[in-house]
Amino acid sequence: MKTTPHINPQGEFAKTVLMPGDPLRAKFIAENFLENPVLVNNVRGVQGYTGTYKGVPVSVMASGMGIPSIGIYSYELYSFYGVENIIRVGSCGSMQENVKVRDIVLGMGAFTNSNFASQYKINGTIAPIASYKLLSKSVEKAEVLNLNYHVGALLSSDTFYSDSSSLDFAKLGALAVEMEAAGLYLTAQRLNKNALAICTVSDHLITGEETTAEERQKTFTDMITLALEVAISL
Ligand code: HPA
Repeated sequence: MKTTPHINPQGEFAKTVLMPGDPLRAKFIAENFLENPVLVNNVRGVQGYTGTYKGVPVSVMASGMGIPSIGIYSYELYSFYGVENIIRVGSCGSMQENVKVRDIVLGMGAFTNSNFASQYKINGTIAPIASYKLLSKSVEKAEVLNLNYHVGALLSSDTFYSDSSSLDFAKLGALAVEMEAAGLYLTAQRLNKNALAICTVSDHLITGEETTAEERQKTFTDMITLALEVAISL
């Protein structure tokens, strides 16, 4: 199979890939949620695995942090490895009172302060949006699993440590801040593929509240279960 600059495939990728930011999270998901996981990429330690969930092939591979990084991995997976659907599974910081720590945010769209979309040379602005198919399936499964979830805009910020406040975006309705969704959505839109970001709220920008390690594990399990249920329904 063809090698690309950031992926040296040691096996097939499934048509749906779950994408956490952290390579160790990818390994954890593969080993604890998938049946028969096989390591299919390890370039730069960005571990990719393919296994099955309830008998259906699913892959998991890390994105790294930030829009440039997820832009690279999603582009290569969509363009060269037959991947149709990428579901980002990550964390975010809430920017709204009613979005509580441990809740799940389904990113219908992604506001951003990034210049990533300038490459398309559009004479105007484009809205990075999720795939409706993935979003509607996620809502359906989140209802079945009885999860606390919100659907709305994420803010994909280029800065974690910022001199300006992300909360300006909250006035326009952004629910929570993270760092990758916009790059993933734009790449999927350009390549006519499907993408969705599902994020658990790990911290709260207004109240300063943070989750404990134990709480993060439980909500992480809920989020991965949701993403896997969506993955096998596609
Ligand atoms: N900012 C950016 N990314 C994040 C945050 C945050 O506060 N929390 C979790 N991911």
